[in-house]
Amino acid sequence: MAKLLLDTLKGNPGDRVPFWFMRQAGRYLPEYRKIRATQPSFMDFCYNSKEATEVTLQPIRRYGMDGAILFADILVVPDGLGQKVWFEKGFGPKLEPVNSVDSFSKLSLAAFHDKVGAVYETVKRLRSDLPEDVTLIGFAGAPWTVATYMIGGQGSKDHAAARQLGYGNPELFDKILDLLVDATADYLCAQIDAGADVVQIFDSWSAALPEPMFDAWVTEPTKAIVDKIRARHSDTPIIGFPRLAGAKLKDYVKATGVDGVSLDTGVPLNWAASEIDESICLQGNMDPHLVVSGGKAMTNEALRILEALKGRAHIFNLGHGFVPETPPENVALLAETIKNFRR
Ligand code: CP3
Repeated sequence: MAKLLLDTLKGNPGDRVPFWFMRQAGRYLPEYRKIRATQPSFMDFCYNSKEATEVTLQPIRRYGMDGAILFADILVVPDGLGQKVWFEKGFGPKLEPVNSVDSFSKLSLAAFHDKVGAVYETVKRLRSDLPEDVTLIGFAGAPWTVATYMIGGQGSKDHAAARQLGYGNPELFDKILDLLVDATADYLCAQIDAGADVVQIFDSWSAALPEPMFDAWVTEPTKAIVDKIRARHSDTPIIGFPRLAGAKLKDYVKATGVDGVSLDTGVPLNWAASEIDESICLQGNMDPHLVVSGGKAMTNEALRILEALKGRAHIFNLGHGFVPETPPENVALLAETIKNFRR
C-alpha cells in the first residue's frame, strides 16, 4: 500500500499534504499520562518496548497522522555509550557530565546495541502493528545537540559548557563528536534494519553558533551520519532539523545532502520555497503555541502554511513539539483542516 508521507519525501507527492507532529506522543494526551504514571522512570519508559509501542500508536488512533514517530528520546544515545542519564521531575534531563579525558574514557560503543536494543524491538513491533499506509519515522539527536547535554550535564539556554569545551579543548570536543557520529549512524541504521521507513536528525540547539562552528559542529557531523546511512540504506529518506539555524539553513541542506528539512516556526516560507532546492521536501512549521489556543486563528494559520508551500513537496508539522497544555480537541481540528486541504 502506498505511504503518502514516504512517497512525498521521495519526490512523489499526492493530492493531499501528509502530516505528523513533533511530540505527538506526549503529555497532552490523557492516555499517555496514564501509562507514564506506571513507569519507574522516563528512561525505563523509553526501553519498555510494549509501552513505547503503545504510546507511539495512541496519536495515530486518535488523529490518523500519516507518520508515526518512534517513542524514545535523543538521550538514549549517551545512555547507550555508558553515560549516566536520568530525568528529574519538574527539571528535565540530568547527566553525569563528560567534560574531561577521564570521563570521556568511560564511554564506549562496545555495549551500545545491547543497551539500546529495546528501541529496535519497539521499531519491530511498530512495523507490524501500524496501519500499512502509515510511515514509520525513526530518529536521533544530532551530535552537537546531544553533546550539549553530555557536556553540560543538563539542558541550558546558551550551551555554555559545550561551546567552551569546543573552544578550549577542541581535541576532546572532536572526540566526543566523532564518537557520537559513529554511534548515531549505527543507531539509525539499526532502526532502519528494524523497519523504520524514514529517519529524522534533531539538531534542536543549532541556533546562534558562529559560522565556522556551525559548519564544524552541526553540518559536518550531520553530513558524516548521512553518508554512513546512505552507504548502507541508499533508499531511506533522511530529514534534518537544524532548529533556529536561520540563514545557515540553505547551506546546511546543500552540504549535508538530507532529503527533507524541518523548518522551525520562524522560517519565512517564501524564503524557504525559493532558496531551498525543489528536490528537497520541506516540513513544518506551525507554532505549537497556536494549537493551545486553537479555533480560527489556528486553522487560518494552517491554511496559510499549506497555501504557501502548495506545489512543493511538503509535510505539515509544527515548528517545534506540542507543549503539554495543548487541548487534544484542538489537535483533532488541526488534523481535519490538513486532511481536507487539496494541493
Ligand atoms: O512524540 C515524539 O516526538 C517522539 C518522542 C520524542 C521524545 N523526545 C519523547 C519525550 C522525541 C522525538 C524526542 C526528542 C528530543 N528529546 C529532543 C529533540 C526535539 C526537541 O524537542 O527539540 C530533545 C532536545 C530531547 C531531550 C528531552 N527529552 C528534554 C529536554 C526533555 C524534558 C523536557 C520536556 O519536554 O519534558 C525530554 C523529555 C521527553 N521526551 C518527554 C517526551 C514525551 C516528556 C517527558 C515525560 O513524559 O515525563
